[in-house]
Amino acid sequence: MNPLLKNDARTRARALLHLHTAASAVATPVFADSANGDLTQSTDFKVFSGYQDLCRQRDGMAMLGLRNPYFSVHEGTQRGTVQVEEHTYSSFSSYNYLDLASHPTVIESAVTALRRYGATVSASRVVSGEITLHRQLERAMSEFLGMEDAVAFVSGYATNVSTLGYLFGPRDIILHDALIHNSAITGAKLSGARRMPYPHNDYAALDRILAENRKQYRRAVIVTEGVFSMDGDIAHLPELVAIKQRHHALLMVDEAHSLGVLGKTGAGLAEHFGLPTKVIDIWMGTLSKSLSSCGGVIAGSQSLIDNLRMNAPGGILYSVGLSPANTAAAISALALLRAEPHRVTRLRHNSRYFMEQTRAHGLNTGLAEGTPVVPVILGNSLSSLRVSDRLFQQGIQVHPILYPAVSEEAARLRFFITSGHDEPQLDHAAQATAEAVAWAGGKVAR
Ligand SMILES: Cc1ncc(COP(=O)(O)O)c(C=O)c1O
Repeated sequence: MNPLLKNDARTRARALLHLHTAASAVATPVFADSANGDLTQSTDFKVFSGYQDLCRQRDGMAMLGLRNPYFSVHEGTQRGTVQVEEHTYSSFSSYNYLDLASHPTVIESAVTALRRYGATVSASRVVSGEITLHRQLERAMSEFLGMEDAVAFVSGYATNVSTLGYLFGPRDIILHDALIHNSAITGAKLSGARRMPYPHNDYAALDRILAENRKQYRRAVIVTEGVFSMDGDIAHLPELVAIKQRHHALLMVDEAHSLGVLGKTGAGLAEHFGLPTKVIDIWMGTLSKSLSSCGGVIAGSQSLIDNLRMNAPGGILYSVGLSPANTAAAISALALLRAEPHRVTRLRHNSRYFMEQTRAHGLNTGLAEGTPVVPVILGNSLSSLRVSDRLFQQGIQVHPILYPAVSEEAARLRFFITSGHDEPQLDHAAQATAEAVAWAGGKVAR
């Protein structure tokens, strides 16, 4: 606890920081509304709720004397370490899982593509923005996964939004895991389909919801992540496949955090369970994590991919083609992933090792299963901020995840592990975290 901070000041700071749901709900100001005919504030961006929340959060951090952890600027590449200003930190905030972001071959491929094609393709692919690298990447991805074809989008986020938004409509139902990434929720909302979350990885509940609702809808699609990005646990693909078959539903899996991570060769969730990837109807992955680039991919049957390639509005049709450098970087990273499977093995070793070390210190790693996402749950946004701040002062960069990104009880630090870390670094981070949690007055218990 900060002894300089009096109790009343702390209470206020908590409210300012949105540390309690109730506090935030009460604190949100309501401006004079048009029901009274007063429109004077309606064009003032200062009263938009997001901005008000931001101001409260900034004020709260300043009041507590805490460094604002957001938008911290780094130099160079985020590997096992990162440079911030003139200091080097152990880095647990990047999803450079296979340590390929600055690999000389990846950089060289990107530079060659940049020289050959320029900085951008300057048009949507449908019109005149296609370069041979685009199809090369898509063929490499589909071949690696054992799918008929694949199509690349300019952003992982837009991939989910466009795909769900385009493929489904008001006569359909989208059932998604309660912890699914925001991009899938946005896509589901855009589609106009009935959207029903099922409790996290609760397949009995999913089965029940489908049994009760399926017949009222034309199509049903189940959407899950492979490795969950906040909790690091793994969706149980065999159960999902049995359910989708029972209810004539489609299955979409977001493998942002499982591509290059799960399975012997890093092919993802299906390989992890010894199944062909084709059991997944709509396979989604991002290029921004293991593939050290930027963009997203959908893989699946030829008809699905042809349809998306020609018609998906946000990804292909009304959006510029993936940049030459990004396309080449992803092709190169995928080739390295395949040629150097020891990266996947090392990532797996590091992930499990770190989880075990943190648990040995009595820290609460929630649902972690030895994937590169390892949460340390503190159950309090203020403690999470303070522990993150203290670790930063000790040369460790790990970001807090606060309410409202997760519920207040689930506030945490989220460690991303990469193949670029080593054991002494992981030991040190686990120990320093346990000490910082104890210092902050948090429970060190599972
Ligand atoms: C599960 C998941 N899906 C989709 C995305 C969006 O991907 P991108 O950041 O590459 O746009 C993310 C982002 O981290 C993610 O974690």
